[in-house]
Amino acid sequence: MDDRGGISRIRFVPENGGDILPFAAGAHLDLYLPDLDMWRQYSLCSDPAETGFYEIGVLKDPNSRGGSLKVHETAVEGAVFTVEGPRNHFPLDETAQTTVLLGGGIGITPMIAMAKRLHAIGKDFTLHYCTRSADVTAFRDALESCGFADKVVFHFDDQDPAQRLDLTRDLPAPSAATHLYVCGPQGFMDWVIETAEAAGHASANVHREYFSADVDLSGDSFEVECRESGVTLTVGSDDTIAKALARAGIKVEVKCEEGVCGTCLTDVLEGEIDHRDQFLTEEEREDGDVMCVCCSRAKGPKLVLDI
Ligand code: FES
Repeated sequence: MDDRGGISRIRFVPENGGDILPFAAGAHLDLYLPDLDMWRQYSLCSDPAETGFYEIGVLKDPNSRGGSLKVHETAVEGAVFTVEGPRNHFPLDETAQTTVLLGGGIGITPMIAMAKRLHAIGKDFTLHYCTRSADVTAFRDALESCGFADKVVFHFDDQDPAQRLDLTRDLPAPSAATHLYVCGPQGFMDWVIETAEAAGHASANVHREYFSADVDLSGDSFEVECRESGVTLTVGSDDTIAKALARAGIKVEVKCEEGVCGTCLTDVLEGEIDHRDQFLTEEEREDGDVMCVCCSRAKGPKLVLDI
C-alpha cells in the first residue's frame, strides 16, 4: 500500500492463514532481508486489537544502509518475508493519566498503535505529528478520519510558524502520572527529550524509541577476553566486538547492528564499557555489567565478556 512522503504501508498476514501472534502498542517486527543478509526492525502501526495482520510503515530512505530500499523493492503483493517477533522495547504505560505522543516523520508508526490502544481504553492523550509538509505526511488521511482525529495535532515545517510544535506550549506540566513518548529523527528526539527533561519531566516518564542511530563505531583498539570460550581477541579501531567475535567463531546474534534493538546484549564481567548504543537505560549503563557488542567499545585496554 503506497502512502505519502516516501512511506509505504505494508501488511503481513501469516503464510498459512490464521491469527497473528498478539502484540502490544509500541512493539516492532524483525524483518529479514535475505539479499542483504540483514535484519531490520519496524514498529507496528496496526491496531493491537487486530488479529488478522500486522502493518508497518517503511520510509524509502536513501541514507539508510539499503534495508528500507530493499523492503520497498521486494514488498510486492504476495511476497513472502521471514519475520520474528513481535517484540516490545517501547511499552505503553496504560496507568498514566495523561499521555503525549510525539512522532517526527516515520517516527509516527509506533505512535499510531499507541493512540489506537489509548483510544480503545478511554485514556486521555494527544498525538503530535511533525512532518516537513502536509503533502508528504504519511497516514494523514487515516488520522484525519479516525475515531480519535480530535486528539491528533499536525505540525508542518513549511506552514505558519504558529502551528509548529512548541514544546513550551504543547507539553503538559510534569507530573508522576504524565508520560511522554517520542520517536523520530535523532535531532527531533534530542530536542524533545532535552526540553521535556529541562521542564521537569522525569527521565523515566520520557519514553523513547530510536529507529535508526547514526552511531560512531570507531575508537582505540582494545582486547576482549571471552571467559567461557577461553579466547582473547583484539578489536581494531574500525572494528566492532561483534565482528571480531564472529571471525573467531564465537556466535552472538545481531540484528540492527547500530545499537537500537538490544539483540546483541552480552554480559560483561570486567572492564569499563564505552556505551554507544541507544538501547540501554542510564541505570543499566551505570551498572556496567551488560553491553551491546554490535557498536559499544571499551574505555580501557580490555573487557572480559561472559561468553
Ligand atoms: S544488534 Fe541491535 S543493538 Fe546490537
